Amino acid sequence: MKRISVIFTLIFTLSIVFGQIAERNASAKPWKYIYKHHCLSCHGSKGQGTLAGPNIKKLTLKKFRAAFKVGTGAMQSYYYIPKSKITSIWKFVSNK
Ligand code: HEC
Repeated sequence: MKRISVIFTLIFTLSIVFGQIAERNASAKPWKYIYKHHCLSCHGSKGQGTLAGPNIKKLTLKKFRAAFKVGTGAMQSYYYIPKSKITSIWKFVSNK
């Protein structure tokens, strides 16, 4: 039980730190806002992954999109995020 609360405290702290870093870089781009508020806490500031979520930098767009539709178990479905935004997020995390 102790270990779980340590992990959660760590995730919480990291998400605040990364959140502030992202805040500084945030532009008017809506997909950046989406990434920051819906993905960053688990997948890291650049999709590199954290304790809570895997690295998502090396996926094909098809695989990336599929994860949004169904949800993957530990991650909810993000079916409501429009396709064009998903593509932008994919480009961002995979440096395309
Ligand atoms: C609550 C933490 C959490 C959040 C928030 C979250 N994810 Fe995930 N995500 C996960 C976990 C955990 C997995 C792996 C699930 C599995 O394998 O069952 C995953 C899987 C994925 C995958 C598939 C990875 C693969 O190898 O197939 C993609 C793509 C992905 N996430 C993108 C995103 C994006 C983009 C967002 C924001 C819209 C997001 N995730 C938000 C935790 C999260």
